[in-house]
Amino acid sequence: MSLNYNERKSEELEFVIVAEEGSLSNGDRLFVEIDEFRIVVFNIAGKYFAIEDVCSHDDGPLGDGEFEDEFEIACPRHGARFDVRNGHVLSLPAVEDIPAYPVRVADGNIEIGIPVE
Ligand code: FES
Repeated sequence: MSLNYNERKSEELEFVIVAEEGSLSNGDRLFVEIDEFRIVVFNIAGKYFAIEDVCSHDDGPLGDGEFEDEFEIACPRHGARFDVRNGHVLSLPAVEDIPAYPVRVADGNIEIGIPVE
């Protein structure tokens, strides 16, 4: 099953408030923990993206990585790159995608969609 939860139906997700809209400026990143999920949220040119803050290669803290391209983040440990829009792996040494989560703004808050069982 895809780890890109942007593809899930809304009834398969629970949206959780993580911040007030406006508290995350362009270029900022926000680290949150929701239950067992460690997630990093990015504001890239006014759009929000959320991925798991755990590299699929060796569990590195992916959210601390530098951007190689507008949507391409590099893991700070060994350099594997991922697309923050969908969690797809783009380079070795990682070979598996990481989870990507939908982000929405509702009632002035930034919310992340977490999969429900
Ligand atoms: S832990 Fe991310 S590339 Fe190795």
